[in-house]
Amino acid sequence: MSDDPPAHAPLRTYGRIKARPIKPRQAQLLDSLAPRIAIPSGPLNPRDLKPDAAEIWLEIGFGGGEHMAGQAARRPDLLILGVEPFLNGVASALRHVDEAALDNVRVRQGDAREVLADLAPASLDRIFILFPDPWPKTRHHKRRLVQTDAIDSFAVALKPGGRLRFVTDWSNYADWTLERMLKSPDFRWLARAAVDWRVPPADHLTTRYETKRLGDCAPIFLEFERV
Ligand SMILES: C[S@@+](CC[C@H](N)C(=O)[O-])C[C@H]1O[C@@H](n2cnc3c(N)ncnc32)[C@H](O)[C@@H]1O
Repeated sequence: MSDDPPAHAPLRTYGRIKARPIKPRQAQLLDSLAPRIAIPSGPLNPRDLKPDAAEIWLEIGFGGGEHMAGQAARRPDLLILGVEPFLNGVASALRHVDEAALDNVRVRQGDAREVLADLAPASLDRIFILFPDPWPKTRHHKRRLVQTDAIDSFAVALKPGGRLRFVTDWSNYADWTLERMLKSPDFRWLARAAVDWRVPPADHLTTRYETKRLGDCAPIFLEFERV
């Protein structure tokens, strides 16, 4: 084990003062199901987890896992990797995976930046970043998930032609992300008209956070292609 500090800033908790207690059923799933569907640590070619997967998707910060599980149920031919540091969120996601008997989801409780660093280059078809912690104060912008080095890691992990969907209901975070993604030579913004970022894409599933309407604008859907 290296004692080197991680290359990125440490993960900070946004807006969660206190974790809810884990219910007995969730505790049972954390013991039994979580190890079976864990994303293994260390260098990873995700195709090894489901060699017949039509596509491999990654959802960063899945919260309670509703979107991840909903997409996995819709598309049993895919493999969906989900990463979420918050234990209550992981416990909730395990319940969704169990109830829908999904066998195409793999989960890591942790920091997506570490998973991205371990993934084989060009191994993902899609990345979803849905309502990331907004960190609206200027002095906290450096804590946002979307930073130039993170964009580079998305580019490495995605196949050419792969897609990244970023959704936020904070106007400044949309501007922030657009500015940085447009500077990246690795991505192309797919919007042609305002409707493309204002109207949810046909395959979007509403997330739990989205329903809370905590931001300062209606959700903005930014879809990028890895060139
Ligand atoms: C505002 S919540 C949105 C959750 C969910 N996507 C939704 O829309 O309901 C943002 C989530 O991102 C997670 N998160 C923050 N930093 C992360 C990181 N570095 N890697 C993975 N998840 C992260 C948080 O724990 C939190 O659950």
